[in-house]
Amino acid sequence: MAVEAPGVGAGTWAWGNRFLWGYEPQRDDPVIEATVAAAVAAGVRFFDSADSYGTGAYAGRSERLLGQAIAALPPDQRQGLTVATKLAPFPWRWGRRGFDRGLAASRARLKGRLDRVQLHWSTARYAPWQEGPLLQGLGDLVEAGVVPELGISNMGPRRLRRWHGLLQQRGLRISSLQVQFSLLATEPLAPGGVLEVCRELGIELIAYSPLALGLLSGRWSLDGPLPSGPRGTLFRRLLPALKPLQTLMAELAARHQISQTALALSWCRSHGAMPIPGLRRVEQVDAVREALGCSLRDDERRRLDEVAAMLKVSMPANPFSSS
Ligand SMILES: NC(=O)c1ccc[n+]([C@@H]2O[C@H](COP(=O)([O-])OP(=O)(O)OC[C@H]3O[C@@H](n4cnc5c(N)ncnc54)[C@H](OP(=O)(O)O)[C@@H]3O)[C@@H](O)[C@H]2O)c1
Repeated sequence: MAVEAPGVGAGTWAWGNRFLWGYEPQRDDPVIEATVAAAVAAGVRFFDSADSYGTGAYAGRSERLLGQAIAALPPDQRQGLTVATKLAPFPWRWGRRGFDRGLAASRARLKGRLDRVQLHWSTARYAPWQEGPLLQGLGDLVEAGVVPELGISNMGPRRLRRWHGLLQQRGLRISSLQVQFSLLATEPLAPGGVLEVCRELGIELIAYSPLALGLLSGRWSLDGPLPSGPRGTLFRRLLPALKPLQTLMAELAARHQISQTALALSWCRSHGAMPIPGLRRVEQVDAVREALGCSLRDDERRRLDEVAAMLKVSMPANPFSSS
């Protein structure tokens, strides 16, 4: 049965990231305010950043640029938005107060606007003792009214249930879980997977990398130039196996008169997840608008699910995701 479609948010990982995204401040920064304004005008209500975004000298740049862009919006447009960041459980952040300074620094970079703080990844695989105190510490900050909402990221169904129960005992709720979810990363759909658990527990599911780093836009092919660096290497490996998916996406996108990018976002929504595509140019917002205006039929969603399940390749899983 189809579920009510959630919204579309926006991701900001590329802002300040040279290594993966080829960030160029002179080229990228001047259009970010306009991109955020266009996204809000198109109906985006959720913006996602992280304190670990920004490489080298650009550390913290994503939060800074987002803070500036949100502050530049007219006051009535700032209302109703959720500005979220993710705090990284670096090894030197431990104990119940391990995030206190990080949260204050993020809030300052965001010019004071922070509605939701998320634990960026689970430490269950390599430092299981670290996760509990840090999450309970974030709970303390919510309880004290320092930040309104709490979210988590890169956590599997088992730990999600556990943390939901433990925080619920304190009267706290997990607002959202953010995981990789796209037509090339379908693990959340598995029986008993996070999609099911989020629905059962009333937790919003946020789909990160919903375009598989841009591969699902249909823009890239082995015949043309590929992005430089690790994205190009990944696309070269995945593209040869994508023909059946690309053919079906092209057919459905044409039927709905939307781009393939919009179709990839619509598919996430049709499963009840809010995609947060990485946006850095005004024209990329067109796909968001199209996705918000599109409802996939159940049979269309099922066909996409079936083709995605038969593919021999998928996006690499985040190594810090827990079960
Ligand atoms: N929690 C986590 O651990 C985690 C991990 C990864 C990402 N995230 C969050 O999720 C967000 C989105 O994921 P992502 O940035 O990894 O990848 P993504 O959204 O799957 O892909 C972003 C790419 O899509 C392309 N794109 C965007 N709009 C387009 C359009 N309309 N037409 C064609 N191409 C378009 C961009 O192109 P250009 O290259 O041309 O700009 C960019 O390359 C991140 O920004 C971040 O906020 C969270």
